[in-house]
Amino acid sequence: MSGSGSAADCESAARSGARREGPAAARREPGARRTEEAPPAARRRVFSGIQPSGVLHLGNYLGAVKHWAARQDDRENFICVVDLHAITVRQDPEALRAGTRELTAMLFACGIDPERTTLFVQSHVRAHAEAAWILGCATPIGWLERMTQFKAKSERRGGRERIGVGLFTYPVLQAADILLYDADEVPVGEDQKQHVELARDIAGRFNHIYGETFVLPEAVIPTAGARVMALDDPTVKMSKSETAGRGHAVRLTDTDDEIRRSLKRAVTDSGREIEFSDDPARAGVNNLLLIYQAITDRSEGQVLADFAGARGYGDLKMGVAEAVIEVVAPIRRRYEELMAAPEELDRLLAIGAERARKVAEPKAAEIRRLVGFA
Ligand code: TRP
Repeated sequence: MSGSGSAADCESAARSGARREGPAAARREPGARRTEEAPPAARRRVFSGIQPSGVLHLGNYLGAVKHWAARQDDRENFICVVDLHAITVRQDPEALRAGTRELTAMLFACGIDPERTTLFVQSHVRAHAEAAWILGCATPIGWLERMTQFKAKSERRGGRERIGVGLFTYPVLQAADILLYDADEVPVGEDQKQHVELARDIAGRFNHIYGETFVLPEAVIPTAGARVMALDDPTVKMSKSETAGRGHAVRLTDTDDEIRRSLKRAVTDSGREIEFSDDPARAGVNNLLLIYQAITDRSEGQVLADFAGARGYGDLKMGVAEAVIEVVAPIRRRYEELMAAPEELDRLLAIGAERARKVAEPKAAEIRRLVGFA
């Protein structure tokens, strides 16, 4: 690698090799001896993919998005709204278009900063589709046949004569997403771990055939976020696909009154003790306390002190509702502002796509060359 030490050199090293070097390498003085250097302080690159379906809810916010927003400086973050993945099952075109814009607007409203995080729409960066084709040609059918999500989804959706080929090759597209960016980490739930491991296997196979090209990504199961349970059933996680009905989740688009109503209806128990508990019978109250704790960033002790004077679950629910409103109302207002200004949202999406292309396009060019395209 060149020793001239410019930021541009570091960038091109990032693109051409499987190992990216961090700012320490970029700052290296010409002729400086490697042994005297501090270890490279590269920011880890993190790639998150999110489906443009359903409205974001409090569980998404407290479990993930709040932490993405809080940690935009210690990691190099890419957040991709995966509309190419969405069409692996039948979508209403207008609903998909609207859902994609709504989700991106909501992520910006939650504090994702377009200058620090690359938030973009997958279909805006053509390299994803192209890389998926190339990687698919290096992926054995047997590997895809072992994907448990494909097996489950294809059975649910009517089997081989009805589902599209895209549902089968879905994990290859996901691998393309991850590998185009040389992501070190991919934060996912348990259900997506197998797909990230597949991406790693595909990277390994490609590297073996064509030479070191891709960083081998790692699935990370986030531990920072709160695990928010459903208000109508505190034994299951709040789910994005069930936000249409009332009472299950607090949607980030809910009005103050809707938030109060949903919390008022939250399932609790027949007791009156306000305390943290892992007794399944008391999961509802525990969930309310955890929501309050996560949304106010307070300790367990502070939370209990806040409710020491409560006369019962009614007071608890109202206290939680007001704390939730304090955070959600400004998010909702920013969201509504952005949705009312389509050209501003377009501008932000163009910035994201541009930043994403700067990384993905050179990588795509490299794999085109490696496989022998003239
Ligand atoms: N398959 C993921 C899900 O359903 C979404 C996704 C697409 C993704 N591409 C990704 C997640 C890349 C992480 C990295 O949740």
